[in-house]
Amino acid sequence: MEKIIIFDTTLRDGEQAPGASLNPAEKLEIAHSLADLGVDVIEAGFPISSKGELESVQHIAKAIKSAAVCALARAIKTDIDAASEAIRYAKQQRIHVFLATSKIHMQYKLKKAEDEILRLAVESVKYAKKSCPDIEFSPEDASRTERQFLFRVVEAVINAGATTVNIPDTVGYSEPEEFGSLIRCIKENVPNINNAVISVHCHNDLGLAVANSLEAIKNGARQVECTINGIGERAGNASLEEIVMAMKTRKDIFADLETQIKTQQIYKVSRLVSKLTGFAVAPNKAVVGGNAFRHEAGIHQDGILKERTTYEIIKPEDVGFTGTGIVLGKHSGRHALSERLKELGFKLSDTELDKINSRFKALADKKKNIFDDDLISIVEDEIKLIKPVWVLDNFTINSGTNITPTATVSLKYKHKVLSGKSSGDGPVDACFKAIDKITSTKGELQDYRIEAVTKGKDALGEVSLKLKAKGKVVTARGSSTDIIEASVRAYINALNKIESLG
Ligand code: KIV
Ligand code: ZN
Repeated sequence: MEKIIIFDTTLRDGEQAPGASLNPAEKLEIAHSLADLGVDVIEAGFPISSKGELESVQHIAKAIKSAAVCALARAIKTDIDAASEAIRYAKQQRIHVFLATSKIHMQYKLKKAEDEILRLAVESVKYAKKSCPDIEFSPEDASRTERQFLFRVVEAVINAGATTVNIPDTVGYSEPEEFGSLIRCIKENVPNINNAVISVHCHNDLGLAVANSLEAIKNGARQVECTINGIGERAGNASLEEIVMAMKTRKDIFADLETQIKTQQIYKVSRLVSKLTGFAVAPNKAVVGGNAFRHEAGIHQDGILKERTTYEIIKPEDVGFTGTGIVLGKHSGRHALSERLKELGFKLSDTELDKINSRFKALADKKKNIFDDDLISIVEDEIKLIKPVWVLDNFTINSGTNITPTATVSLKYKHKVLSGKSSGDGPVDACFKAIDKITSTKGELQDYRIEAVTKGKDALGEVSLKLKAKGKVVTARGSSTDIIEASVRAYINALNKIESLG
């Protein structure tokens, strides 16, 4: 069996997705889940971009043991110094240097000729190599680079010490057959290619990122760069879960090739990334979408009952999708809850379990059947990565068809309870305005979404919103069987997140 190295760039390219900013605690939480998922390399960030980013990569480097931690750098000494500083304490370190090689980038962006680009590429790899043995080099926009020049660059950086050469389809322009043939040509035309691993990094502008990555693997690539849920710049990157499950499901095509991914963790990591970035997963998204394992049509349901494989090519449990199976109810005790949470992959302290247990009991009073997705939602809502400054105490609303909605909200703040009252365009707006009064904030709501976690009239509603306040933009979620309470919780979570950013 030959291994395909999974290089996850959720925390770097994924975080570059507009509006997907994560705070250091959230990045660390995702890094731990990626390590548990079994990825080989975690690209943790671009340290030169800010002091906070450098520190965040440092925290990840110190904490993660089972995967290499990689930092990105342009082919500039100060970038490489920042990257090297950030990963210094990692058990397995990698520096990823990139420099554009396509005519269009060299002429308009860099204003440099081929020879200078070649010299800078070699010098930067040699420089990075002094502080880190594992160096990856990316000729940015490789798929639009003139081929002979690309071969020269790849050969030169390998001679300079690059251990991985990554071929990015930076603007998602390639088509699968063409991209596969590019990888084959690199293998055939670069004399020292066997001294490095060929990697690929595909963007999804034409919806071909996964197809291009798989074609590259068939033609000799042995590392793929990808992100959870396919998040990333513009239309995103190749999605980790789709690549991994395509290889696993089509063993006939990807014979003798395997990844180390523990696929049963996929659904949980997907939800975590969605929650922390605020990027909802489309219901029809392959592998992790809410509908990926739902069968509505009668003929399909009949087929599934007779033989599952008639309409299902992936077993839901293989990706940790627990679906809508009833797990617990009113009479389930703390022990049963704790066991189920363990099965779902949560490692909780006793205090955390106490909090979840009381939310669970309150929910069980309102809702007969508690599904796994309800439990996951409660855990995500309760287990805060940041110490909350504002905590919901209670609220009341007065609303109807012919009256102006008003809300009174009380929040706990440093052992005191502060209350505020406001009217608004609707009960949710009135609550948000009351919270703004109490917290002296002028919040600007940039996005607000609500969805039911499970089916049924008593389903838990989950609100995700994007809030701009105090010069910062954050995303947050909240859940409850009452959609106004879910909205209030999400708004308070967002304000706490803003406070944590200082
Ligand atoms: O898309 C791209 O080219 C990149 C490089 C930094 C590898 O993200
Ligand atoms: Zn990219």
